[in-house]
Amino acid sequence: MLPRRVQAELLDGLAATDPVAERSRRDLKRLHRFMRTRARLVRMLRQLVPAPGTTLRVLELGAGDGTLLLGVARELAPVWPPVELTLLDRLALVDGATVAEYARYGWTARSSVMDVLDWARAATEFSADAASRWDVVIANLFLHHFDSLELTLVLEAIAASTDELLACEPRRGWGALAGSHLVSVLGANAVTRADAVLSVHAGFRERELTAVWPRTAGWSLQEEASGAFSHCFRAKRRRTQ
Ligand SMILES: C[S@@+](CC[C@H](N)C(=O)[O-])C[C@H]1O[C@@H](n2cnc3c(N)ncnc32)[C@H](O)[C@@H]1O
Repeated sequence: MLPRRVQAELLDGLAATDPVAERSRRDLKRLHRFMRTRARLVRMLRQLVPAPGTTLRVLELGAGDGTLLLGVARELAPVWPPVELTLLDRLALVDGATVAEYARYGWTARSSVMDVLDWARAATEFSADAASRWDVVIANLFLHHFDSLELTLVLEAIAASTDELLACEPRRGWGALAGSHLVSVLGANAVTRADAVLSVHAGFRERELTAVWPRTAGWSLQEEASGAFSHCFRAKRRRTQ
């Protein structure tokens, strides 16, 4: 079994406007198409049944340039109420065109530029008021950046501020590791190629996220391999009658 190993990814050490980083972020979009990330997220989000007449508050952690959920917004717009979407990332990568594109689907997007660990400390220190509560928190290719101590803090903060978390991360295993060495076939640059391998080593398997989730009662937890390379986790607060 591959032991979990978290190492800084090359993309995280590059400036937002570095052309090599920009190219790597474009590679990521190609990888998402290949891995059918949007379809996976839409499938998971369709299980959420928003109350009619409400506005849904969604937080995406580690949202990058914020474009990942655009296709999700397009598919869900006909059946979902309006959405207030906050795109949190440590880098300012969300541009006006992306915000305008969300608006076409009735989603009001705003970017929040901060380190998730600062967000997590604030969210756990001050009990979440209505303005800082989320109907759903989404993390895609993000939680694997953190070692188990940081992960504990981030998951505690998520549990304190939402009723539902959806996360899809790299699966840690020999098959995914072999796949990560082949991203060059999709034309990925050197940064993406190196980070794909690091991501698999830092990824998750079995019930590893469940084991870190806070042990408070009232949550339904589901964690499983998804497709050939992904590992998804859903935490949903059970409704009290
Ligand atoms: C692999 S990218 C994934 C982007 C997007 N979620 C996707 O799936 O396309 C990871 C993102 O996490 C952000 N990130 C890494 N460490 C972070 C931190 N400590 N706080 C906030 N964002 C962070 C990076 O800037 C990057 O945009």
